[in-house]
Amino acid sequence: MSQGVTPPLDEATIAELRELMGRYPQARSALLPMLHLVQSVQGSVTSEGVETCAQLLGLTTAEVSGVATFYTMYKRRTMGTHHVGVCTNTLCAVMGGDAIFERLSNHLDVGNDETTADGQVTLERIECNAACDYAPVLTVNWEFMDHQTPESAVDLVDRLRAGEPVQASRGATITSWRDAERVLAGFEDGRADEGPSAGDASLAGLRIAQERGWSAPPVPTVADAGTRDHGPGGGSGPWAEKEPDEVARSKDTAEAEADTRRAEDETVAEESPADVRGGGSKEGGESDD
Ligand code: FES
Repeated sequence: MSQGVTPPLDEATIAELRELMGRYPQARSALLPMLHLVQSVQGSVTSEGVETCAQLLGLTTAEVSGVATFYTMYKRRTMGTHHVGVCTNTLCAVMGGDAIFERLSNHLDVGNDETTADGQVTLERIECNAACDYAPVLTVNWEFMDHQTPESAVDLVDRLRAGEPVQASRGATITSWRDAERVLAGFEDGRADEGPSAGDASLAGLRIAQERGWSAPPVPTVADAGTRDHGPGGGSGPWAEKEPDEVARSKDTAEAEADTRRAEDETVAEESPADVRGGGSKEGGESDD
C-alpha cells in the first residue's frame, strides 16, 4: 500500500472491524484495536474511520473522537512510511534525547509531528517508553532502538529512507508503521519471536537474584486469604484479611483520631498567639509596674 494514499474502508476492512468486535463480550471494548486497524489501512484515524467505528459500535462520533484524540498513538494526520519517536522525557533527555531530536529535526528538515517531503519519516517527540535502562531510546514504528546517539539516529533514518533492512534492538525487523498498526489491532504477522525481547539491562536483576539464590515471597492463595489474621506478619501485616465492617470501623476510628488531632492543633494555634500577646502585655505590664 502506498503510504501517501488514503484508501476507503472497503468490505474486507469492515469485515475485520466486525471480527474485532466479536472478540470481546461487549463490542465497544473493541474500539481501541478498531482504531489501530483504521490507521493501518488509512494511515491515520480519518473522519471516515471515526464514523465507521461509531456506526458499527452504536456510539456517537463525539465518543469515538474523544478516544482517538485522547491517546497519542492515534494519529489524526497521515503518517509517513515510518514513525520515528525520540524519547525526550527526563532520563532520555539528559542522556542525549534532546540532542538526538535536534539533529534529526535538522537532518530531516521537519519539526515535531511532521513528515518528510518524501513521505518516508514522521518525526515525533515521545514520552517515557519504560525503556530508561537503555536511554536514550528511539522507537521506529513502536519498536525500540536502544542506546542511540545523534550519529546513530541519523544513520538509522537514512537506512529507513533507503529501504535498507533495519533490526530493532529488542523486537522484529522493521517493516512499516501501517504494518505495525495492523499487529496492534490484533492481526499477527508471525514475527513476534524475531529478535530479542529483553535486553541485558532488564535481565540484570534476575541474573543477580539467581546467582545469590534469591526468590520472591510466595504468592498469597485463596487458602491464605481464608486464614484470617494469621499471615506471615503475625496477623497485623498486609496479609491479614479484614471483614468489611472491620475495615469500616478502622476507617471511622482513623477519621475520628484525625479530627481530634486537628482540633487540638487548631486549639494550640489559636491559643499560642494569644499567650504570646498576653504574656507580652503582662510582662510589659509587669515591667511598667
Ligand atoms: S525517559 Fe526515555 S524511556 Fe524513560
